[in-house]
Amino acid sequence: MTISVADYARDCAAQGLRGNYSVCRADFTVAQDYDYSDAEQKVWRTLCDRQTKLTRKLAHRSYLEGIEALGLLERIPDFDEISDRLRPLTGWEIVAVPGLIPAEPFFEHLASRRFPVTNWLRTEKELDYIVEPDMFHDFFGHVPILTQPVFADFMQAYGERAGDAIALGGDEMITRLYWYTAEYGLIQEPGHEVKAFGAGLMSSFTELQFAVESRDAHHVAFDLETVMRTAYEIDKFQRAYFVLPSFDALRDAFRTADLAAIVGRWKDRPTLDPATV
Ligand SMILES: [Fe+2]
Repeated sequence: MTISVADYARDCAAQGLRGNYSVCRADFTVAQDYDYSDAEQKVWRTLCDRQTKLTRKLAHRSYLEGIEALGLLERIPDFDEISDRLRPLTGWEIVAVPGLIPAEPFFEHLASRRFPVTNWLRTEKELDYIVEPDMFHDFFGHVPILTQPVFADFMQAYGERAGDAIALGGDEMITRLYWYTAEYGLIQEPGHEVKAFGAGLMSSFTELQFAVESRDAHHVAFDLETVMRTAYEIDKFQRAYFVLPSFDALRDAFRTADLAAIVGRWKDRPTLDPATV
């Protein structure tokens, strides 16, 4: 049973979260209310200009094609306009939210091919680091790769099945899968260099370079069950990055995985150390 909007709004206000949850609809979405100041538009362009210098070199081509197709770089995107461009490509659309939302409605949105994007942007003082995910992380990080049909299918399947894993006690395990793919995923297709596609990397100036280029970055071949067993870092660089051979490998591994068996095997056992996995 999911938490009510009113209770969640009260919790978020008590924690000092920035979004206005009091205006949420029952599915935790809000109106985007496109009313951004010149200063906010400038922060958006600064973030995009700076990050694009890196993504051109380090991001997977399907992410770059997504940026091109959606046209995100000139000004803060209008959610409805982006949805109109995204829908014909993969059937996904964007919905506005005030920030993080509870797991259950988040998964329901993914299962329905709706990606929740925060409707506010970090300030000029937070160009390099922000605690809560903001519009730049959500849009610049997550949305372009939703134009890649196979990854888009994986994200929908994740939304459909994550709740089952949680019901079996596998909430941490299923979160690790999202973390090491949608947030910090790398990909190396045969004959190509390692590239990034995860949103946590795309929206980080320093970690994107580290993850793809540093000799100290620990690259591990993707294996679904290993990913689900490996601990991760929340506010420092990851100590491991899992590398997909293709997006098909991710979608197909998840589609055919017996989540009940995997969760049953590992949920009460110690996690794998990312430094040595
Ligand atoms: Fe994210």
